This record gives sequence, structure tokens and C-alpha cells, in this order.
Amino acid sequence: MLADALTIDDLKRMARRRVPKMFFDYADSGAWTEQTYRANESDFARILLRQRVLVDMTNRSLATEMVGEAVSMPVALAPTGFCGMMHADGEILAAQAAEAFGVPFCLSTMSICSIEDVAANTTRPFWFQLYVMRDRGFIESLIERAKAAGCTALVLTLDLQILGQRHKDLRNGLSAPPKWTPKHAWQLATRPRWCLAMAQTRRHGFGNIVGHASNVGDLSSLASWTKEQFDPRLSWADVDWIRQKWGGKLILKGILDPEDARMSLGSGADAIIVSNHGGRQLDGARSSIAALPPIVEAVGDRIEVHMDGGVRSGQDVLKAVALGARGVWIGRPFLYGLGAGGRAGVTRMLEIIRNELDITMALCGLRDIRAVDHGILDRGFAEAAAAPAGPPAAKADEPAGMATAVPERTGAC
Ligand SMILES: Cc1cc2nc3c(=O)[nH]c(=O)nc-3n(C[C@H](O)[C@H](O)[C@H](O)COP(=O)(O)O)c2cc1C
Repeated sequence: MLADALTIDDLKRMARRRVPKMFFDYADSGAWTEQTYRANESDFARILLRQRVLVDMTNRSLATEMVGEAVSMPVALAPTGFCGMMHADGEILAAQAAEAFGVPFCLSTMSICSIEDVAANTTRPFWFQLYVMRDRGFIESLIERAKAAGCTALVLTLDLQILGQRHKDLRNGLSAPPKWTPKHAWQLATRPRWCLAMAQTRRHGFGNIVGHASNVGDLSSLASWTKEQFDPRLSWADVDWIRQKWGGKLILKGILDPEDARMSLGSGADAIIVSNHGGRQLDGARSSIAALPPIVEAVGDRIEVHMDGGVRSGQDVLKAVALGARGVWIGRPFLYGLGAGGRAGVTRMLEIIRNELDITMALCGLRDIRAVDHGILDRGFAEAAAAPAGPPAAKADEPAGMATAVPERTGAC
């Protein structure tokens, strides 16, 4: 029962029982040793909050804006490839849940449902994520399709010029649709509800690509196309070219270093997402939440700063906002919700996050998410807790552990 899920971990357990292993593992994995994947989650626990009492906690509001769009809370559903393999028609269901909840949904280039599929099944604009391929004609056509579908922001992913390696995917022989080996057939046979739903949809391949990119008429030609197409020469000049072609709100995803963040200031982008691709690319990179404060310090309020990676509760959302994130993107938790129960599962995930965010903000003594800043963080103890693992004090834009990542407490509250 979805209503029994009280935490994101509960949804994850449910999803594990319902989704074939190869697709569940695809979501629940990081590159190589998964060090960065784990750090994304565990570093949040090292940031502590200040409890306040005897303050008025009535009439609370989580509503704010992300790139100028009203949102019911500062949370967006991150672009995830293969989403439609966690549940049949997954992208459509997640987009519908996000729309009803008043938060943005971002469709991946590598989605199963196409841009047109999602547009036809939603009533409000969604966002589109672009991977840059060598075939620039195809990129132009994707941009045109996103415009025609009424997408209101383009998220340009910068951290996947070449693919990181995830051992689980290689061992599982991941593909969409799944291969017909005895191992894969067994994985499917043990997940009958998933199979039944999949049998009722025709969306089994990469909907944005098959039949659109040249030389990819069917699924068999897709694998080699994808491998060759990610463009390792992507540069700031390409960002400029894409910005001009798109002409709308542009969000740069995958910035983890203050120097890159500073360079983004000249790009004309509206926002950056501090992200390490959920620990799926450079294993050994710092966690996103540790990367956030020096980047916020480097760019100030000259560009909107968002973050993603490791957010597993409303408390994590609040901590990221306190450290300067205007928006917080969530990947795996919504995939777990989807796997656990389709659209209703994504809604449940959003309810859990909202409830935790609301209560935590109140117990920190605040009523409006727009008033949250690092004044709600308990700096002293966070420093003490992180001290054994942290490096010596570093300058703001040098790599640092969480000890130096938590900024000075202001007199707020
Ligand atoms: C299964 C999966 C697929 C992903 N696919 C994409 C993608 O197609 N494009 C993209 O920009 N990021 C992709 N990402 C990264 C997410 O957008 C996001 O950065 C990451 O999931 C955030 O970390 P979290 O999962 O811990 O919330 C993917 C992540 C996961 C887990």
C-alpha cells in the first residue's frame, strides 16, 4: 500500500519488489566504486539544524519561484533516462504527478516517452533536458520539437560528454527493451505487474530518438548510435550556439567547480544546477551538497543556483535551500515512487518531501521558505562532527570537506 510508505526508503523497497532487477539497478547505482553516489546522500547527515521555540508557526508557505516560474515548493523532478522502464509510460505519469503538485517536471533526451507523448498527455508546460550529440542537425530538431511542445525551459547537461561506467549495468546487460536471454526473461517473469503494464503500452524504446535521428530507424541501430553520438568536444561556444537556437530559459546542469560556475556567468544562462549526475559520472568527485556553498559564494546572486544529488527527504531540501539553492532537483526518489506505484507513487514521494520540508522549516522557527538562509544551520556542531574527515580550512573556492562548506551563521532568527 502506497499510503504505508512514510519515507523515500519505503518507496525504494516497494520499487525493488516491483521493477525488474536490471532497471531497478540502473536507478540505484553510481559510477565505479559508487563513492560519490554514497557521499551525495551521507554528507547531508553531517549538516545540522537549529531548533527554535516559541515562534509563531502558523500560515506557513513553501511556494517560491524557479527560473521565474511559480512552484508549490522548491523541488523539480530531474531528467532521468529510461524513466519509462521503471513503470510503463513512466515519463507521462511522472509529468502528470508533478503538474498536479505544482512542481516542474524535466523530460530527458533519453526518455522512453517522446516530447510529443508527454505534451499530449499534460496540460501545463514541462521542461526539456538536452544532451549534445555530434549530429547537430538532430540537436536543432530536438530544440525545435521542445519549442513546438511548449517547453518553457531547456536544461543543458554538461557532465556527460563521455559516459561514466556503472558496473551493475554492464553485468545486467541493460537495454531498452530488455534482451531475451534466460536471465532477462527470469527477471521479467518475477515481476508480473510490471510486465502487464508494459504489455499495454507501445512505448518501449527511446521515443525522442528512434525514427527521428538519421540512421536510427529501429532499436537495433540505436545502441551503436548512442555510443558514438555523445559529443566529447562540447565547449562554451556550443553552449552559446544552443542558447541562441533555443531563445528561452536556459539551465546548465552538471557544474561542480566554482571556476566552471564563474565561467557560466558569461554564458547568458538563467540558472546552473550544482550536480555530479547523481554520482554516475566522475566517481571520487565531491558530493553536490559539499560543492554548493563555494559555488554560491563564487557566483553570488548573479545567476540562480540549483542543486541535485542525494536528496532523500524534505530536511535535505531545506538544508540545500539554507546553503543557497533556489531549487532542488530530485532524481531517484521519484523513480522509486514510479516503480512502487506509477503516478500515485510519484505523488506519494512528493507528499513525503513536502510534509518533511514543512515540519522541519517550522521547527527551525520559519514560516516562509523564501526566508530560509544559513541562519537555520547549527554550524558549530556540524563542524565538530565533520572535523575528523575534513581537510584543513580552505579558501571558498578550493575543494573542501563539509567542515568548511557550512558558512558562517548570521544573526538571522
Ligand atoms: C536512472 C537515472 C537516469 C538519469 N538520466 C539522466 C539523463 O538522461 N539526463 C540528465 O541530465 N541526467 C540524468 N540523470 C541525473 C539526474 O538528472 C540527477 O542529476 C540525479 O539523479 C540527482 O541525484 P539523485 O538521483 O540522488 O536525486 C539520471 C539519474 C538517474 C538516477
